[in-house]
Amino acid sequence: MTMIQVDAEKCTGCGQCELVCPHNCFAVAGGVATIISSNCLECGHCLAACPVSAISVVALADPLYFETFTELEGVAVPEPGGVPELVRLLRSRRSVRNYSAKPVPLSLLQYLVKIGTTAPSGTNSQLWTFALLEHRADVIGLGDGVAHFFKKLNKKAANPVLRGLARLFAGDSLGRYYRNHYKAIKHGLEAWFDRGEDQLFHGATAAILVGGLKKASCPCEDALLATGQILLAAQQMGLGTCLIGFVVEALRHDAGLREVVGVGSDEEVYAVIALGYSAEKYLRPAPRKRIAGRVVKLSRGKTSYGCSRSSLS
Ligand SMILES: Cc1cc2nc3c(=O)[nH]c(=O)nc-3n(C[C@H](O)[C@H](O)[C@H](O)COP(=O)(O)O)c2cc1C
Repeated sequence: MTMIQVDAEKCTGCGQCELVCPHNCFAVAGGVATIISSNCLECGHCLAACPVSAISVVALADPLYFETFTELEGVAVPEPGGVPELVRLLRSRRSVRNYSAKPVPLSLLQYLVKIGTTAPSGTNSQLWTFALLEHRADVIGLGDGVAHFFKKLNKKAANPVLRGLARLFAGDSLGRYYRNHYKAIKHGLEAWFDRGEDQLFHGATAAILVGGLKKASCPCEDALLATGQILLAAQQMGLGTCLIGFVVEALRHDAGLREVVGVGSDEEVYAVIALGYSAEKYLRPAPRKRIAGRVVKLSRGKTSYGCSRSSLS
């Protein structure tokens, strides 16, 4: 199925789509962008970056609608004038996967951490942990550790005997990994080790590891809420960000790597934010797909709550 369409009449072959696409779905040839992969993430980067609006993404043809004023009519909002601005900020944040070499000053990273702590926390425990990687060399160092973790994991997953044994004694997580991630990780590892390309941190010059002490009542939720505040504040400061789940996964399983970045046995890292000055430019917000999960309105009956489906248009 065609997931992306390029209007060849409009396309100027500028290559912005090729630059921003996280899954390398585009190639510019003969002055026009063509689709070379069906591996589309449906993130909308391409249509948000295209200067001549030549791209459409099928899954985003009927997106969520974000005009706030009519939706909010009759609702008490403290500063109604500020809501569209806030929604603009929320919608303008993108996961950036191309960074310039310009470093992010440590003071900015520290300020972002302070902003992170404006988030709510379970029982107001505020037991966050933050680790700052200020220099590109530090980011590469962590990336190297992560790459070695995945190299070992890929070697294990490639072995059918090990996959079979793992399924017998520990569930099918190794098999699932093999089916869903092995190939992409193999390509990423070749890029990292053979060509010196950074498909993990995407060239980010800095990173913030957000975690929490395990004794907190909701350390994971607290960390992710702080992370959300940081992503938005960074966007407003003109910084690009991208969450890097692969690093979180490696830190969860690799004790040696945890030691390298000083994660104690009493804490866990729940989010890794790649940060830097973006080398990508987005001209408009990307649409959001309609919600795939359920949105229901609950109303209390005599013995239980009844659900009625409501739609977000
Ligand atoms: C928990 C989590 C982990 C993610 N991990 C990665 C990652 O390892 N690499 C990456 O390039 N993007 C990662 N992303 C970014 C998502 O792909 C991105 O948020 C999604 O495509 C929507 O695009 P947007 O953030 O630009 O709106 C992650 C996002 C989340 C929420």
